[in-house]
Amino acid sequence: MYSVLSYGRMACDGVRIDAYARAIAQTVRPGSVVIDLGSGTGTMAMLALRAGAKRVYAVDLDPAVWLARDIAQENGYADQLVVHHGSSLELNLPEPADVVIADLRGSFPLFQQHLAVLRDARTRLLKPDGLLVPKKDRLFVAFAEADACRLNLEPGWTSLERHGFYAQSARQATLNASYTDRDAPIRANHLVSDAKVWGEIVYGESFERSMSATVDLTFTRSGTADVLTLWFEATLHEGIVFSNAPGHQLVYDRVVLPLLAPVRVAAGDRARVTLRADVEGNQWAWETTIGSGARVRQATFLGLPASPESLVRQSLTATPRRSLRGDRAARLLPLLDGERTVEELVNVAAAAEPERNREELVEEVKTLVRHYGR
Ligand SMILES: C[S@@+](CC[C@H](N)C(=O)[O-])C[C@H]1O[C@@H](n2cnc3c(N)ncnc32)[C@H](O)[C@@H]1O
Repeated sequence: MYSVLSYGRMACDGVRIDAYARAIAQTVRPGSVVIDLGSGTGTMAMLALRAGAKRVYAVDLDPAVWLARDIAQENGYADQLVVHHGSSLELNLPEPADVVIADLRGSFPLFQQHLAVLRDARTRLLKPDGLLVPKKDRLFVAFAEADACRLNLEPGWTSLERHGFYAQSARQATLNASYTDRDAPIRANHLVSDAKVWGEIVYGESFERSMSATVDLTFTRSGTADVLTLWFEATLHEGIVFSNAPGHQLVYDRVVLPLLAPVRVAAGDRARVTLRADVEGNQWAWETTIGSGARVRQATFLGLPASPESLVRQSLTATPRRSLRGDRAARLLPLLDGERTVEELVNVAAAAEPERNREELVEEVKTLVRHYGR
């Protein structure tokens, strides 16, 4: 859940909002039906209403979406804004939309269910000839000199080494993880190579479980390659483009993938990079060959301390048993039948586990209802 302040900060990103405003002005026609998917406090919804939309459905998982209703009211649009507090994946509307507007990117386009949600919206909620804003994102990669990033990672092992311990495993773990540059933004003058596109997302269409590409990069100046940095260029509608390339400070962050060791490079040196990422941006693998050096393979998988049991549990051949939490949910889920009150559900839970604290049970049942009730 975001705070109202963080929605305000998102709306303060002038580059992003101006681009969306232009795309909305070009795609929303007087009389259009629009979905503001992931509406937050309704900035895009308001822009669509001003562009002449007949009706805007403001949809968000976050209760902040109720503020969109109040803001619409303040601006004289109360009758045209319909709020849906919940997931678009569970939304059915009485009419298909002419335009779906969304920015579910998080700090980078590969984020949670972003791609799946937009594909679902395109398939179920949008007219066949309807428009999705954004249209596509191109993903870029380059090498950067980023001492600050490396220094930020060092406490992960130097804390132990200072006391005379070896800490190679901690070093490996911190260098096999993905980061963002929020604390130490990468600027244009930190780049030491050219940048290449390594992926493209076409919204409403792309939905591979993972993305993978190999690109050849050329170093543009002498310096040190410390990290790979990744950013995107969004095309919201024909000719309406913005980017969070180094040098542009938008609300998004850049992804940072550290190299195992800094590498001295000279202008004209070449490198080959293979990148793989899962569609939700949780898992990354990066292979780098710089100049005539050896190929170095890194992956977030190598940075995640995991027990053998948990790895087995995640495999397709695992035969899991229900946990205690699963038993509790299984007991209550069939009783969400639209007839029993939450209090009655709490009574069922209390009868099954009389030793448990009632307040804790109330919270547990409310969470279950929030997730699986309607
Ligand atoms: C980055 S915020 C964007 C807020 C606002 N539209 C803006 O651009 O300033 C993304 C919002 O999408 C919402 N969201 C993500 N997936 C969703 C889904 N499947 N259904 C409804 N809302 C969703 C989140 O709760 C969050 O409020």
